Formats: sequence, C-alpha cells, structure tokens
Amino acid sequence: MKLLVTGGAGFIGSHLLEYLNAQHAHETVVFDNLSSGSAKNVLANMKLCVGDVCDEAAVDALFAAEHFDAVIHFAAQTMVPYSLQHPQEDCNVNLLGLINILECCRKYNVKSVVFSSSAAVYGDNPNIPLTEDLPLLPTSCYGITKMTSEHYMRVYHDLYGINCTVLRFANVYGERQGEGGEGGVISIFCKLLVQNKPLTVFGNGEQTRDFVYAGDIAQAAAKAVALTGYNVINISTGKETSLNSLLDAFKSACGHELTVNYAPARSGDIFRSVLSNKKLEALLGFVPQMDIEHGIPKTYNDYLARRKEGL
Ligand SMILES: NC(=O)c1ccc[n+]([C@@H]2O[C@H](COP(=O)([O-])OP(=O)(O)OC[C@H]3O[C@@H](n4cnc5c(N)ncnc54)[C@H](O)[C@@H]3O)[C@@H](O)[C@H]2O)c1
Repeated sequence: MKLLVTGGAGFIGSHLLEYLNAQHAHETVVFDNLSSGSAKNVLANMKLCVGDVCDEAAVDALFAAEHFDAVIHFAAQTMVPYSLQHPQEDCNVNLLGLINILECCRKYNVKSVVFSSSAAVYGDNPNIPLTEDLPLLPTSCYGITKMTSEHYMRVYHDLYGINCTVLRFANVYGERQGEGGEGGVISIFCKLLVQNKPLTVFGNGEQTRDFVYAGDIAQAAAKAVALTGYNVINISTGKETSLNSLLDAFKSACGHELTVNYAPARSGDIFRSVLSNKKLEALLGFVPQMDIEHGIPKTYNDYLARRKEGL
C-alpha cells in the first residue's frame, strides 16, 4: 500500500514514521512544509516532499505523481493560543489544507483518509469521560477548525465513499515534542527542569488530564487506515492523571527533588479532563500502553539530549 503522511516531519508524525518503518507495511511519502517539523524526522527509506498543504497546485501534482492508496493527514496549525491571535491563518492551514487533500483523494481515488482531530472539539464539557457522541462546543478557533474538519471528513465519506476516520487525540506527549503545540504542561516542565528553574502549578495539583504517549497515537493512526466507513474515535488512555502524579514521574526521571510553587488556580482552566477509549478498543482492538512512569523519563531524557545538541 502506498501511504501519504502530511505533517510527517513533526512531533507525532515522527513517531508514526518510526512505527510504519518497523511494520514494513507501506511505502510511505511525507508531505510537509517544515514550518515546525524537521527533515531529520523523515527516515532514509521514506520520500520527503517539501510543500504546503495550502498550495492547491502542489498538492495536486503530488497526488498525480504518486498514486496513493491512503492518507494520514497530520499537517496543521497546532497552537491553540496562536489560533486566537491568527484565526485567518488557522482557518487557512487547517481547513483549506484539509480541503485540498480531500479534493485530491476524491479526484485520484484514494481509498482511505485518517485525520488528526483533538479533544479541543469538546470545549469545556464537564461530562467526563468524554465520549465521541457528546455535542461539540469548542472554545478556540483551533477547536472550531478541527470540528469543521470532522464535518468535511463525514461529507467526503457520505458523498464520495472515501473511508474517513477522525481521531481525537487527548494531551499528547513524547520524544521530539515541540514547545508550541497542544502538549502544554509536559514540554513546559521539561524546559524549566533543564534550566534548573522552579515549576509552577496553578491550583492544588489535583487537576487531571489524559496524557497519551505519541508512540501510542502512531499505532492507532496506522491501524485506523484499515477502517471502513466514517468513524470518529478518541485516542486516549481513558485515565485521569493529576499534575501531582506527573510531578512524581518527573521527580523519578530527574533523580532529584523538584522545586514546585503552587499558585492560585487560573480562571477558565478546566479541572478534570479524560476521554473514553472504549470505542478505540472496540474498533481497533488496541488501547494505549505507555504509562507516565515510563513515558515521562523517555520524554525528559530526549529533551535533555536535544538541548545538549543545541536543538
Ligand atoms: N500534540 C498534541 O497534543 C495534539 C493533540 C491533538 C491533536 N493534535 C494534532 O496532531 C497533528 C500533529 O501535531 P503535532 O503535535 O505533531 O504538531 P507538529 O507541529 O510537530 O507537526 C505538524 C507538522 O505539520 C507541518 N505543517 C504545518 N503546516 C503545514 C502546511 N501548511 N503544509 C504542510 N505541512 C505543514 C509542520 O512542519 C509539522 O511537521 C496536528 O494535526 C495537531 O493538530 C496534536
């Protein structure tokens, strides 16, 4: 099978490329404008085409030349605060970029598309664990473009019969994580720790998030290529992890006590967040395996190594 991975040079994309490489299952082509990704993340036996998903002619030329069977679409504007400051750009990359990909899938008879959506589509819904059937009420421009993308996926399935699977990622972390994306607290803690700076926790540290390892996201995305029909699936651990437990994992990773300042809780921050992964288990026969006790040391050590290399 010939597979296109857009955004494959990025953080989660790099984990997907590693997984695909280990599976030897597909011939993989990466399309990425390298705005936040790195060519180093693309493995030697994979083809990197540098280009922008917003460039309709470039995307068309790519599909005309390569004859893909399936697409995993990760390329996106990924920063929530940035989406509020630059809503036009967020819309352009996340919606027009997706439309360019879907139009080529229709035109060139691609069988299956997997799309990286986000828990941001749920907004501040307190009905945890969040299930895929809940109403969507995003609270950011990023959340709106992800929600609207899901509708495009549904309509391209319904009208053109393309197998379209939407994956809603929880809070993703892991090696090669950038500092600007959705990852939030884990990359902030890594950065402060390597600088020997104190960590600040807003509130009592008992607030929870669903931290899912990028390698597990990669496996789910690769398996989702085989699904038929239109599917919307949370990719999550289904477990709440408190910031205090996260601090414990960082303490083990660093091998020393942490200096933590507890500041007043910020208004607007949601206290508990977790996504159900029952549908993931039912449809893909898989649930994320990595726990934070193992995943945080990997992430921290990778951050440390990259810092030393000046990256
Ligand atoms: N990291 C998270 O916690 C998280 C959570 C939910 C959803 N997601 C989604 O997962 C996907 C991957 O995110 P990531 O965290 O790996 O981010 P990332 O920034 O590391 O990866 C995005 C990749 O897309 C490329 N890209 C950006 N704009 C492009 C364009 N116009 N044309 C071509 N390539 C472009 C970048 O160079 C980069 O390689 C995104 O769709 C993101 O919205 C991420």
